[in-house]
Amino acid sequence: MPVIEKLNIVVTGGAGFIGSHLCDRLVQKGHAVTCLDNLDTGRFDNVRPLLNHPNFRFVEADVRDPLSIDGPVDRIYNLACPASPPHYQRDPIGTVKTCVLGALHVLELARATGARVLQASTSEVYGDPEIHPQPESYRGAVNTTGPRACYDEGKRCAEALFFDYRRLYGVPVKVARIFNTYGPRMLENDGRVISNFVVQALRNRPITLYGDGSQTRSFCYVADLLDGLELLMESDDAITGPINLGNPREVTVEEIARMVLRQTGSRSPITYRPLPEDDPRRRRPEIAAAARALGWAPRVALEDGLKSTIDDFAMRVATPVSPASNSAEPPAGLTAAARPARKRRAALSAVGSSA
Ligand SMILES: NC(=O)c1ccc[n+]([C@@H]2O[C@H](COP(=O)([O-])OP(=O)(O)OC[C@H]3O[C@@H](n4cnc5c(N)ncnc54)[C@H](O)[C@@H]3O)[C@@H](O)[C@H]2O)c1
Repeated sequence: MPVIEKLNIVVTGGAGFIGSHLCDRLVQKGHAVTCLDNLDTGRFDNVRPLLNHPNFRFVEADVRDPLSIDGPVDRIYNLACPASPPHYQRDPIGTVKTCVLGALHVLELARATGARVLQASTSEVYGDPEIHPQPESYRGAVNTTGPRACYDEGKRCAEALFFDYRRLYGVPVKVARIFNTYGPRMLENDGRVISNFVVQALRNRPITLYGDGSQTRSFCYVADLLDGLELLMESDDAITGPINLGNPREVTVEEIARMVLRQTGSRSPITYRPLPEDDPRRRRPEIAAAARALGWAPRVALEDGLKSTIDDFAMRVATPVSPASNSAEPPAGLTAAARPARKRRAALSAVGSSA
């Protein structure tokens, strides 16, 4: 994808798993990137290597507050939101606010600046689906009162806001429905299938399978997902989505566990636990629309993506965490400059480089 011009790009949630890889890639391509994050589930270490780059700045801010950014904004990727069930269920009302107020505030920022804005939506909008694979036209089967509803319904409402801002104000919007994504920098404690299994295997602890392990998932490697997000963002204005981005290869959870055991050479036994409430039985994207509209398809085989994910976890699981080198928080100097943003008003003081 050739860079036509240097763009001013805001990535909310840019210190998280997907967001930090996106920041890396956009900076490498020569864009000026503002990473905006409240460091709820993100890690400052994920973006620390970018701090000295002249095209990068970090802003500690919360998307639940109104946003304003110094200087022009051409693109906004809205990724800010805890993504794994234990994290988004920890503060469910906060999650609804992040989804809904966050969408409202990035849309207002887009409206004020003329930026194009992409929403990181989710396959969770399909709930526990009755049809397989799930095309974008499927309306979903979400339990509106269950423990996952704060995230699922929050993301659905965000999609509604995106399309209302397009209809009412002509804001150029893009909505990507992201399916399970994995890769280096996933958190150890996020309760997702791959990170759970890899950490358990590396520690030779029992691998916990929920249910009988026959429920399926499909896993997209993070580099493939970034290709899709960028292609969607830079596509013609008429292409709004929602567009599914994910890997259609469907594997059972038990198969994943065995693959991880093989690749790590672990001696961990497999143990079985009851299925959590509202856990989807099957999940697989229909990606014909992404292929048609964007010419996109995932390329990284699960076996290869697992290898780099395991290598990354192996370093972290083996290396003891030292507060100075591996903190999730910005260093003191940066924190002091950024702290006002934690107050419930976003006068967004930039820290990091002087981009
Ligand atoms: N990883 C997946 O498999 C997956 C699947 C579907 C959708 N998504 C979506 O992609 C996005 C990124 O997911 P991820 O896996 O990188 O998750 P993540 O938890 O690693 O990253 C989310 C980032 O958002 C930040 N954040 C959370 N609430 C915020 C707030 N109120 N204000 C500012 N920043 C806030 C966190 O600190 C973190 O850095 C999320 O919106 C998620 O819903 C991810």
